Amino acid sequence: MKPTALYVYGAGGHGRVVADAAQATATRTVLGFLDDNPRLWGCVCAGLPVVGGRDALASVDPEAEMALGIGSNRARADIAELLLRRGFRLAIVIHPNAVIARGVQIGEGTYVAPLAVLHSDASVGVACIVNTGAVVEHDCRLDAFAHVSPRAALGGGARLGEGAHAGIGAILLPATRLGPWATLGAGAVMVASMPEGVTAVGVPARVVPLAAGGVS
Ligand SMILES: CC(C)(COP(=O)(O)OP(=O)(O)OC[C@H]1O[C@@H](n2cnc3c(N)ncnc32)[C@H](O)[C@@H]1OP(=O)(O)O)[C@@H](O)C(=O)NCCC(=O)NCCS
Repeated sequence: MKPTALYVYGAGGHGRVVADAAQATATRTVLGFLDDNPRLWGCVCAGLPVVGGRDALASVDPEAEMALGIGSNRARADIAELLLRRGFRLAIVIHPNAVIARGVQIGEGTYVAPLAVLHSDASVGVACIVNTGAVVEHDCRLDAFAHVSPRAALGGGARLGEGAHAGIGAILLPATRLGPWATLGAGAVMVASMPEGVTAVGVPARVVPLAAGGVS
């Protein structure tokens, strides 16, 4: 079967990681990157050309899939919405060394990294990131644009609201919920649910004031 052509939107660190995962199977051919940074246009990144930014969408193969290579939840949401409006299909990129149990649902535009585990009946929304070595236990739910960082772990039935971000090594106890666009800091342990938009750090996690401009 002919491999599917794919571009990665975002040529930074996360974009290169997503391109690497997409190239790890024979089912896809990665044609290059798009990026909003004009300084990258025409450059070669991880051996692939950066063909341009939003304007270049008019000239790429409309049948090509688009993978999302952007770490910021807000920016990834914006680009996902733009690409869908322009009629592109968002690629689900799953590294072959991820472990996906039966009954797991994964939304379009989501990236699942090496050594990530998605356990029975977990549900992952559109344009999420389940990053390297993350553990998403049975019956968890990630709403659109959420990010589970490297080595973060969600106990059974835990939930990340839309755009929520669990930082590196953070832990959500079973059945807790991190509200929409909230951030759980690196290494934090969330023992009770947190509301929309907060940043919480520490063990047990406590809300801290947001830096100017917020996060994610
Ligand atoms: C929680 C976080 C978002 C806070 O970022 P910020 O809003 O810029 O906050 P600041 O760096 O100004 O820190 C605010 C306070 O919280 C403390 N703090 C920040 N992150 C912390 C963490 N993970 N654990 C404990 N304390 C933390 C700071 O020391 C500071 O304390 P102080 O006011 O006593 O000096 C950030 O530190 C973090 O953990 N991000 C996760 C990054 C990540 O996992 N990225 C994934 C990449 S794949």
